[in-house]
Amino acid sequence: MKDITMNHFLDINKIAPTELRKIIDHARQMKDARQGQPKGTMDAEQPLAGHMVALIFEKPSTRTRVSFDVGVRQLGGQTMVLSGADMQLGHGETIADTARVLSRYVDMIMIRTFEEATLLEMAEHADVPVINGLTNRTHPCQIMADIMTFEEHRGPITGKKVVWSGDGNNVFASFAHAAGQFGFDLTFTGPEQLDPEMGFIEEARAKGSNVQIERDPHKAVQGADLVVTDTWVSMHDHPTTRERRHNQLRAYQVNAELMAHANEDALFMHCLPAHRNEEATSEVMDGSNSVIFDEAENRLHAQKAVMRWCLGK
Ligand code: CP
Ligand code: NVA
Repeated sequence: MKDITMNHFLDINKIAPTELRKIIDHARQMKDARQGQPKGTMDAEQPLAGHMVALIFEKPSTRTRVSFDVGVRQLGGQTMVLSGADMQLGHGETIADTARVLSRYVDMIMIRTFEEATLLEMAEHADVPVINGLTNRTHPCQIMADIMTFEEHRGPITGKKVVWSGDGNNVFASFAHAAGQFGFDLTFTGPEQLDPEMGFIEEARAKGSNVQIERDPHKAVQGADLVVTDTWVSMHDHPTTRERRHNQLRAYQVNAELMAHANEDALFMHCLPAHRNEEATSEVMDGSNSVIFDEAENRLHAQKAVMRWCLGK
């Protein structure tokens, strides 16, 4: 039977802003409490003791895979990392049946998949919390870590200006969700052919966020507190799009010249993995305003808070 107190973590726009704030604050507390400890040390609190978490990957991953696995262990739980290709899921068993079966073995499911419909169907039929570890449409865990990272360096993100340069992809979409929920302004700059779905923009605007589309990257970054980019070709994009996308996106590379048009203290973020000197130059990635490795670290802390929230712990 479904535990009605459990929470799925499917997308940032589906969770109340007060809850999102609690998750970020909790992540920071847990991070602070661990300062200086070896990574394998268990947290003082063990809310996942006795819990088994399935981590399902239908696409490659370094950060999501390792940070969830380490996070569960630090909280006292155990993990099972599963490749979608090796499961019956990839060979005709329905998602609904998979969700029902897994719910008999594990206490929580994190899934990285292609179609959003797979995630939603898993959540609908699972009796345990389901966490979105990236779909073709969104990447909410990444943006929770990014908000946490921004606030560690610059204080509250509310009212700040975030500029996304490049492809209007899944990571951008979760930034748009977050703009509406956390109340920051968001400008997308990229070619029209790679615009994000307008629905993401309209939803954030309806929540009061000033979301703009600006084709000129130099104009776009004016007044930016944070400049973000991501790979030009995502895992779900067909590899043959590579050459066309590179031509379309070259003008949107984040380099020192572009960053010079943003605020002097503007941070630079990239969820990684990056293609150095394509979407962003190494000069920017390794520069003093870049916080890319803090973002990667904060995946761990933010997701620990997400998992505790899912289980009401
Ligand atoms: N940023 C991110 O999700 O990285 P991985 O694909 O390595 O998990
Ligand atoms: N937009 C990228 C993000 C990877 C973490 C992708 O979906 O491949």
